[in-house]
Amino acid sequence: MEIPWIIDEHTRVKHALLKQYIDAWMTILFSAQSKLRKPEKLIYIDGFAGPGVYYENKIKDETCIGSPLIVAEAANKYIDSKPGREVHIYCTENNDSCAELLYNNLINQNKHKQNWVVYNQEFSIKAHELLDELEAKKLTEQPIFFFIDPFGYSGYPISLLKRILQYPRAEVFINFMIYDIARFYKEELFEKKMVNLFGNFQFKKDNLSKKPEETYSFLKNLYCENLKKIANVNFIMPFRINTPGQGTRPRYYMIHASNNYKALFEMKNTMARVSESSYRFEAIGIDSRQISLFDDPDKINLIERVKEFCQDKRQVSYDDLEYWAYVNTNGISRTIKEALLQLEKDNYIKILRQSRQRSNTVTTGATILANEPPLSLF
Ligand SMILES: C[S@@+](CC[C@H](N)C(=O)[O-])C[C@H]1O[C@@H](n2cnc3c(N)ncnc32)[C@H](O)[C@@H]1O
Repeated sequence: MEIPWIIDEHTRVKHALLKQYIDAWMTILFSAQSKLRKPEKLIYIDGFAGPGVYYENKIKDETCIGSPLIVAEAANKYIDSKPGREVHIYCTENNDSCAELLYNNLINQNKHKQNWVVYNQEFSIKAHELLDELEAKKLTEQPIFFFIDPFGYSGYPISLLKRILQYPRAEVFINFMIYDIARFYKEELFEKKMVNLFGNFQFKKDNLSKKPEETYSFLKNLYCENLKKIANVNFIMPFRINTPGQGTRPRYYMIHASNNYKALFEMKNTMARVSESSYRFEAIGIDSRQISLFDDPDKINLIERVKEFCQDKRQVSYDDLEYWAYVNTNGISRTIKEALLQLEKDNYIKILRQSRQRSNTVTTGATILANEPPLSLF
């Protein structure tokens, strides 16, 4: 069968995120399982798996691999270095030709005779069967990573995500195709489809602003909120992939959801690294203070947020502050530290460092104290 697609720039960014995160996921979880003397076993489920291979360019003289093969390649590397490890890969793909192409590619890669399966089926149906099977085999405590990369916005109802995310080490990485939603929202029956996606009736055409940027923010923030409230997820991290040539207008969001802070931490660091490409980084948590659904995340300044947090708490450990900032702001370790050093310099806070810690750094073990605001003269 002919390879159906030539890879585009968006897909390259998506693949860079997946590849780098899966590498960290395998390193951390295999090593944790090994330390606990548990079987080293991970489960990857690719819901909209594609054919596994793309053409690199229009001349079609070179190919590159798609999501299931990226994970298969990583799995081979980790099993090469320690035989006995297991990576189960389950793919669903509803297009016959894509499924066949993927099957052939995956079989060729399966040098360690792992449990790698391609189902020529609808994701939303097969996913429940797979979860039933994992439950029956008592495998739902294992780390399970779902990659949900559809065309469009249907086929992954929030009710399914809720089921997946009840398992303690499950995480999902979703391609939330905001551009398609905004493009089709005027269509008949659209609101019904949205109920499946968003899980409630809060989505209303009337809530959509006339300005596209506000519509995009609204849809993304509502989806993230609903993942929290309806699918009961603790940590959500969206990454905006811009429309080339149109500034920061999103093409889609890659949204990571999990109930594990370490997973959020690693995914956010991965996003920050990948954003050093020509696409801009965005990572904004949903704030307990309730950022307006129409807020433009670019206007939310990290230093201001950290300052407010310190003034509110009066005293806080570096680790607690970093945790809060990872979950609720667009900061990562480097930018959080930069914000604190700036606030110290500007006399808004004091940093109590441990005896061996240098004055130009701030890290674990340090305590942050808010300074009293200067007394007003009047
Ligand atoms: C964006 S492509 C996937 C690309 C792939 N994840 C990658 O990164 O290499 C989406 C794929 O999902 C398949 N698909 C669409 N609807 C589906 C459904 N309901 N269940 C399973 N597969 C579906 C399409 O045939 C297509 O191959």
